Amino acid sequence: MYDKIMESVDYIKGKVSIKPKIAIILGSGLGDLVNSVKNAQDIPYENIPNFPISTVKGHEGKLVFGNINGVEVLLMQGRFHYYEGYTMKEVTYPIYVMKQLGVEKIIVTNACGGINKSFEPGTLMLINDFINLFGDNPLIGVNDERLGTRFPDMSEPYKIELINKAKKIADKLEIKYGEGVYAGFMGPYYETAAEIVMIGKHGADAVGMSTVPETIVANYLGMDVLGIACITNMATGIQKVKHSHERVVETAKKASADLCRWVVRIIEEI
Ligand code: HPA
Repeated sequence: MYDKIMESVDYIKGKVSIKPKIAIILGSGLGDLVNSVKNAQDIPYENIPNFPISTVKGHEGKLVFGNINGVEVLLMQGRFHYYEGYTMKEVTYPIYVMKQLGVEKIIVTNACGGINKSFEPGTLMLINDFINLFGDNPLIGVNDERLGTRFPDMSEPYKIELINKAKKIADKLEIKYGEGVYAGFMGPYYETAAEIVMIGKHGADAVGMSTVPETIVANYLGMDVLGIACITNMATGIQKVKHSHERVVETAKKASADLCRWVVRIIEEI
């Protein structure tokens, strides 16, 4: 895997000259941040050697390099989901590449369902921990010590220092936010009501189908992670209406303006 990563990295280095230390993974409906990028240089995933191949037709998948208010950034527009049939190693492959490109901090965003009843659709939640319910994880298999340790610590998957900075910035910008634990479910079905009762009792405030694999690998590689989840709907059994992907994306798009304002300032200050 190491050689494959380096091959991807060499290709990207041949295309872009900037060396961002911050990467942002954009969740469903939260792609507006790309509009704030100056001198943007796109690299479609399909052009990068060894990158996973997209299974979804018309699904935008690209890395965007550029700067936001003078800070060099790398945006990942379109992520790989476990439910699409990718292995955990494929889902997290871009994180390994980011690390070798020199990225030190990752901001992970997503659209998810709210379990904590103090939330409502549109709430932005700072993720302070995760529960891995994928029944799998990306670190299974032979460990390459050049990348990270066999038994990584996971006691601070989301860096407290970054969470505290994000809170201060949100207060300054008058952005309302929640905070809580994100449970990662493999999907692609929206959970059953009984599953939501179970994971709610076990400490989850929100549930979604991504983010956990990327967070695990970023920690394994020694990167700092900040997670911001957009609550696009209340989870099954809490909201009275049935789920709809269209509504999820629509709500995420509405929340995207605040998320962009917030992330732009976070990028400037971390
Ligand atoms: N469950 C899982 N994933 C989601 C949800 C949800 O309710 N909403 C958006 N992504």
